Amino acid sequence: MSADQSPTTVPFDAARVAKAIRQRLQSLQRSGVTAIRSPGKSQTDLNELEKQLATIEQNGLPELQVAATADSIGPNEIETTAAVQPEPTVTAEQTIPSETPSITLSTSQENSVMPSKKQSELAIVCQEVANCTACAELASTRQNTVFGVGNPNARLVFYGEAPGADEDKQGEPFVGRAGKLLNKIIEAMGLTRDEIYILNTIKCRPPGNRNPTPEEQQNCAGFLQRQLEIIQPEYIVCLGAIASHSFLECKTPIGKMRGQFFDKNGIKVLCTFHPAYLLRDPRRKRDVWDDIQFLMKDMGLKIPKTSEGVT
Ligand code: URA
Repeated sequence: MSADQSPTTVPFDAARVAKAIRQRLQSLQRSGVTAIRSPGKSQTDLNELEKQLATIEQNGLPELQVAATADSIGPNEIETTAAVQPEPTVTAEQTIPSETPSITLSTSQENSVMPSKKQSELAIVCQEVANCTACAELASTRQNTVFGVGNPNARLVFYGEAPGADEDKQGEPFVGRAGKLLNKIIEAMGLTRDEIYILNTIKCRPPGNRNPTPEEQQNCAGFLQRQLEIIQPEYIVCLGAIASHSFLECKTPIGKMRGQFFDKNGIKVLCTFHPAYLLRDPRRKRDVWDDIQFLMKDMGLKIPKTSEGVT
């Protein structure tokens, strides 16, 4: 700071900055990124960044001390102890060719700091989804895109309908009430969400939770196709009629489709009732558990003797 510059306190919208970081963080986490590295800096674990962010969200940031002359406030004159930037500029060992800053992706797999090829490829599609405005209404009303979540090497993909309010808020599929029931189904299979992958027919929430239109599904179909080409699952479980009809391009009632495998491009596809439907009609849980056991048997998964199935 030079002698003629006296420190000035400037207002700083910490909530806005924290929100921007939170969105960026969630987008990276959804893509399987676990750490980032800024130029010339050491690697930062995203969990660590998340902890710092939570503190800021709770307590705010200290006001910034800016050394300013009347006509110059440059970025280099800002002094702050809070070492947080809204968009970390991050470097490129492996880069994402898009408008966002290039990033070094890291994965927890095998303690490597580099992403797997699949993670990098998914991250590219994820960024394209985040920038997509093909459906004007959805793009203008969404809070977040909901790309998909899970293990890029998953054998099994659960394929749902569309994000609801909770998913739109959090940017992750199946995190609301239906999601909790889906979690129980996954647990009853002896699996976790980290072992499978979860996707929807469309990546944005239809306002008022209306059904996605055929045009919206068509607009999103390319993203799904690329996700599946990358993940290469052996099995897909279509949850409910919208997902089943969209994926298998048919209009057969879901009650007639369930309990058997269909083949789509070498993937075994099972259709069953949507968890949201089970919340409305719990008697159908038995049918879903039958379908899931049929699937588990084919996957070679052990069906726990004591399991009560989907409760
Ligand atoms: N229902 C769905 O079909 N997908 C979600 O992500 C949430 C609820």
